[in-house]
Amino acid sequence: MHVQLSEEHLMIQKAARDFAQNELKPGVIERDEKQEFPAEQIKKLGELGFMGMMVDPKYGGSGLDTLSYVLVMEELSKVDASASVAVSVNNSLVCWGLETFGNEEQKQKYLVPLAKGEVIGAFCLSEPEAGSDATSQRTTAVDMGDYYLLNGTKNWITNGSSASVYLVMAQTDAAKGSKGINCLIVERGMDGFIVGAKENKMGIRGSDTHTLLFNDVKVPKANRVGEDGFGFKFAMKTLSGGRIGIAAQALGIAAGAYELSLEYSKQRKAFGKVISEHQAIQFKLADMATEIEAARLLVYKAACDKDAGLDYTASSAMAKLYASKVAMEVTTEAVQVHGGYGYVKEYHVERLMRDAKITQIYEGTTEVQKIVIARSVLS
Ligand code: CAA
Repeated sequence: MHVQLSEEHLMIQKAARDFAQNELKPGVIERDEKQEFPAEQIKKLGELGFMGMMVDPKYGGSGLDTLSYVLVMEELSKVDASASVAVSVNNSLVCWGLETFGNEEQKQKYLVPLAKGEVIGAFCLSEPEAGSDATSQRTTAVDMGDYYLLNGTKNWITNGSSASVYLVMAQTDAAKGSKGINCLIVERGMDGFIVGAKENKMGIRGSDTHTLLFNDVKVPKANRVGEDGFGFKFAMKTLSGGRIGIAAQALGIAAGAYELSLEYSKQRKAFGKVISEHQAIQFKLADMATEIEAARLLVYKAACDKDAGLDYTASSAMAKLYASKVAMEVTTEAVQVHGGYGYVKEYHVERLMRDAKITQIYEGTTEVQKIVIARSVLS
């Protein structure tokens, strides 16, 4: 596979790189420490067209391909994975899900402002007892004729308190198992919808991860996405694309840590010379560069599969599985290259190491990616 980035791709990549350096880097350490959502920066990303990158311009999007999206995700994630996860959820889970499976009315009402970045979306699948085992939904959506009565709790919801539009998976007919689940569009402010506690996390601390509570929320029937019972498939198909975004995030975290290590190794002196002249450091840099290049190829491959209309269920899981492993390995080595400085906040690599871990957990753990890949290779 040979991926040739076009002039347009390179321009988009540069715009994202400049944004990351000029708008995300200042304040990223403080936002991490204070667990502060990068609201202002996300608004600016919306103005640049980065919140609805792959959405058709007729619905307010930028009409770009998935490869452009992963280039942007990589650049933003080199600096601020808390910002990039908000971008990823909005683009690949919420906008893509609505554009692909929503009806015209839902697109006009919800997709247009989401794609323009005027509002933010959230994707609500995980529950206290349904993480990897996503079919075990306890949240219920009882069919009441004109509306669904929604009750339950969702956990670890990215953009939990900053979103205005929530795609909520809920069980309508438990007897039907995964075929009894629906996806409902819930608006912030609907009676009975409460944004609960914020998680105090190890990494991506600037991302607002919340518990959400639904107490007798009346969701109009018009807000169901797709046919009755389509919710689980909706979630699975949407997550396949989401995993490309998170794979690109993992790649960016690794590449960011590597670039900082490269720079540092050319400045820091030990035993009478800069440490980049020591073979011990050279071996580390060589391993990091090689692993990142391999992860990048898998991420680009998954994006190209999606753009070519091919099945990307396995390629996205492979990209996420591998890139998230590389993110952990490279960031750990980056801290090592920095020595004591790597363990303190001002040098950024300790944050990248903490941020890397979540890429092995959300949008399907490492183990879930292996289930998805194994099913594909065995089928
Ligand atoms: N595409 C299309 N259909 C799919 C599918 C896919 N990728 N995966 C499953 N399905 C379909 C199956 O074909 C099956 O349909 P039929 O009954 O018609 O054959 C149906 O869905 C049920 O599938 P399974 O029986 O295979 O379901 P399962 O219970 O065995 O689950 C699983 C499989 C892969 C483990 C799945 O539960 C899963 O992906 N879990 C992880 C969930 C996850 O990623 N959560 C992340 C939350 S969102 C998030 O993290 C966002 C954020 O904050 C950043």
